[in-house]
Amino acid sequence: MLPIPYRVIGRHVETRDSVTLDLEPVREQLPPFRPGQFTMLYARGVGEIAISISGDASRADGILTQTIRDVGAVSHALHALTPGEVLGARGPFGTGWRFDSAYGREVVIVAGGVGLAPLRPVLIEAINGRADHPRTVLIAGARTPSEFLFREQLDSWASIPGLEVVLTIDQPAQDWAGPVGFVTEPLSRLQLRPGSTTAFLCGPEPMMRFSAAVLIGRGMAEKDIRISVERNMKCGVGLCGHCQLGPLLVCRDGPVVDYALARPLLAVREL
Ligand SMILES: Cc1cc2nc3c(=O)[nH]c(=O)nc-3n(C[C@H](O)[C@H](O)[C@H](O)COP(=O)(O)OP(=O)(O)OC[C@H]3O[C@@H](n4cnc5c(N)ncnc54)[C@H](O)[C@@H]3O)c2cc1C
Ligand code: FES
Repeated sequence: MLPIPYRVIGRHVETRDSVTLDLEPVREQLPPFRPGQFTMLYARGVGEIAISISGDASRADGILTQTIRDVGAVSHALHALTPGEVLGARGPFGTGWRFDSAYGREVVIVAGGVGLAPLRPVLIEAINGRADHPRTVLIAGARTPSEFLFREQLDSWASIPGLEVVLTIDQPAQDWAGPVGFVTEPLSRLQLRPGSTTAFLCGPEPMMRFSAAVLIGRGMAEKDIRISVERNMKCGVGLCGHCQLGPLLVCRDGPVVDYALARPLLAVREL
């Protein structure tokens, strides 16, 4: 599958090192995506990396929204793109969050750092389908106040009835009056109905492991906890073996997996 050209039509600076790009198909467009899926984005002459889709899955106009943190060669080249420039995109790949299986249940979303990007489509679905969920809680953590993605949107979401937004930072900061500490702290204090809650976690692996442990300690079943795992990707379609995690190929069997499946594998180093 060859990359399809997409043109940058919007570039929103999120944090010191992250931007959200809106991408419009130059000619044909990729198939619709489900929340939790990713594309392989190709920066011309530099390389290709996996990036989650961070926009609204219900959009019918073919625009892809993706949030990129500048950590290395390819993400730097994508991060530097400006409106009018073109990149290549393949996808969408991977499993989704299966948010529809949380119908009628309470929803707890836990995000660390750039892990909020793949979860934003879930939040948008939760907000649009508020009547289908008695309660939705978002707990998002960042190192400092300036490192939250989608900050303006987070503030506006906090005022939506039925949606509880808890933002926490790792260390005290002068310009911060909110909670301080890892996401596990508000999570451990949260009013929880374990039997009727589905949890969606994304962020650094230790954060997901500790958050899952808190939820399990409070009575949730592993099958009701979903996490998104990251492994280095190359083909994106289950052919090269680059993204192997135990018996799973993360590009094909993930990135979203039930915690019951993921827990024994997370200690396994990638090949
Ligand atoms: C399914 C999936 C979805 C992803 N979604 C997103 C997304 O929505 N937004 C996004 O920004 N990234 C996302 N990533 C991560 C992204 O693919 C990597 O950051 C990217 O491959 C780095 O490539 P690079 O060439 O820029 O850096 P490299 O040259 O490969 O790495 C440069 C340096 O950065 C370090 N590094 C690599 N990856 C990361 C990382 N994730 N965090 C911190 N340091 C890192 C490396 O260890 C190395 O030291 C996703 C990955 C997967 C597998
Ligand atoms: S990236 Fe090639 S098998 Fe997953």
